[in-house]
Amino acid sequence: MLERPIRLAAAVLFVVSLGAAALGTATEPLIGERQARIFQQACAHCHVRPGIGVPVLGDAGEWAGRREQGFETLVAHTVEGYAGMPPLGTCSFCTEDDLRRLVAFIAGYASLQAAEEGAP
Ligand code: HEC
Repeated sequence: MLERPIRLAAAVLFVVSLGAAALGTATEPLIGERQARIFQQACAHCHVRPGIGVPVLGDAGEWAGRREQGFETLVAHTVEGYAGMPPLGTCSFCTEDDLRRLVAFIAGYASLQAAEEGAP
């Protein structure tokens, strides 16, 4: 009878220790739950559709040339609006931190720090 709770406890401990290991080694996630929701609501309806003149999330080839402008330029274009994109990418309630993270995410940087440090 005792075997099951003990197995369960062992499983829980295992998962918790995996989580702790991940926290210890991984860098801060690029986007949190808040920005993931914003991406779905404000950016995705344009940035996941190929063939409509919008650079698509995850398309490294399409983003490489844009990234050459520098991360700060990508952020400025998003804030001010750019070509067919409305100002703030339509996210009027976004904070600067939200937008910086979302731009880094969409443009395919590994982390916000990598983007800010000028990763190619
Ligand atoms: C209404 C459609 C639309 C929405 C919504 C939208 N975008 Fe865009 N976005 C575009 C288009 C179109 C371009 C490309 C313009 C061009 O270069 O012709 C673009 C380009 C960009 C670029 C590259 C700018 C550059 O300098 O090349 C970034 C970064 C970006 N969007 C981020 C975002 C983020 C972040 C959001 C959500 C907060 C968002 N976009 C929402 C249409 C949209």
